[in-house]
Amino acid sequence: MIKDMNNNNLKNQTTMNTLTTFEFKPLPYAYNALEPFIDMLTLEIHYGKHHKAYYDNFLNAIKGTELESIDILDIFKNISKYPMAVRNNGGGYYNHTFYWEGMKAHGGGLPTGKLSEAIVKTFGSFEEFKKQLSDAGKTRFGSGWAWLCLDEEVRMCIFSTPNQDNPFMDIAEKKGIPLLTIDVWEHAYYLKYQNKRPDYIEAFWNVVNWEEVSKRYENALKVH
Ligand SMILES: [Fe+2]
Repeated sequence: MIKDMNNNNLKNQTTMNTLTTFEFKPLPYAYNALEPFIDMLTLEIHYGKHHKAYYDNFLNAIKGTELESIDILDIFKNISKYPMAVRNNGGGYYNHTFYWEGMKAHGGGLPTGKLSEAIVKTFGSFEEFKKQLSDAGKTRFGSGWAWLCLDEEVRMCIFSTPNQDNPFMDIAEKKGIPLLTIDVWEHAYYLKYQNKRPDYIEAFWNVVNWEEVSKRYENALKVH
C-alpha cells in the first residue's frame, strides 16, 4: 500500500499486517508537464518503462510469499532478511512514486511556513540547503538517490543512498522519514543532459512541489 504512505501508514507501521495491495499509481501530471526542465521522452520512459519494470519485478519477487500481505514500509524495515530482488525492486517501486509526487508543473520557488523555517534553522539558509542536497546528488557515485529526511531526533538531514535503497531500509547507513528526493540514476536525465548530472540537478529545483514537501514534513512531525 503506497497510498498515504507518509500519513496513516507510518503511524500504523508497527501494527499493520493486513492484506495490502501494491498499486502502480498514475503519474500525477502529463509526460510533458515538467518541460523544459525534465523532458517528455525522459518522463515517458522513466515512468512507463523503468518504474513499471520495478513494480512488475517487485510483484514477481513477493508473489506467493508472506510479503504479499505486509505493508511496504514494514518490508523495508526488515529488508536485510529478504532477497535482493525485493530490496532493489521494492525500493525502485517506492522511491519513484515518492519522486514523482515531489514534483509538479510550475513548481520550484521557495518553501513556505514551518518547512521554510525548519530548513533555515537547520541549514542556515535555503541556498545552503539547496547546495547540500544538490551536492549529495552530484557526489553519489554511480546510481542512487539524494534525500532530505527527518531523522529520529526530529532533525532535518541530507544524505544519499546507492542503487534503489531508501532511508526506511534497515541496511541504510542513515535512516529517517523522507521529505524530498532526487533520482540521480542516469535514466533520470541522460536523454536531455547526457553526462551532465549537475545540470539536471539544477533544473530539478524548478519543478519541486513544495506544498507536497510541506505536507510530508507535517506528517513526519506527527510520527515522532
Ligand atoms: Fe529512476
